[in-house]
Amino acid sequence: MMNIQIKGKLFDEDQIKHRVRELAEQIERDAAGTPIVLVAVLKGSMVFAADLMRQMNGSVQLDTVAASSYGKKSVSSGNVQLRKDLDLDVEGKYVVIIEDIIDTGQTLKFLCQHMSLHQPGELKICTLLDKPARRLVTLEADYVGFEIPDEFVIGYGIDYAEQYRNLPYIGFVETD
Ligand code: IMP
Ligand code: MG
Repeated sequence: MMNIQIKGKLFDEDQIKHRVRELAEQIERDAAGTPIVLVAVLKGSMVFAADLMRQMNGSVQLDTVAASSYGKKSVSSGNVQLRKDLDLDVEGKYVVIIEDIIDTGQTLKFLCQHMSLHQPGELKICTLLDKPARRLVTLEADYVGFEIPDEFVIGYGIDYAEQYRNLPYIGFVETD
């Protein structure tokens, strides 16, 4: 998998912007005044989290976590490791983990289990993209931007070999 070709656009800038605004409104409505902490999972969700946060009007704090997975193809969720933990105290808060894409679900399953140790008031998952066809563990996001088929996607923060994060749209690729 050295070269890739962008086969087409899945979602353009306007579609993303519109959906991000809807998600922000929904999260604020659900939080119902409880202070919100958005926890962006580095690095893929940076662009999404930045846009989502700017569509919110009330009290919002931002934090980040980083996880790395070894042996991506393994069925075991024990391969995910925490590289960076929370900085903020999230006890009692409306904590929303922000992810770019849920694939097998292993990363988020691990992060949720870890995050619950910090005793948030509520722990929610918000993902821009969801590929339910590839799930290996039981995990459902509370907020989903778009459900997508089993395609490899790039752009709007999402990378292929650390490239293409800067694309303003979400495209899908052919690998060879
Ligand atoms: P999983 O849900 O633990 O399998 O891993 C999700 C992570 O895999 C995402 O946060 C992405 O970093 C990466 N990933 C999954 N599908 C794609 C894709 O189509 N393009 C780019 N990265 C992906
Ligand atoms: Mg990621």
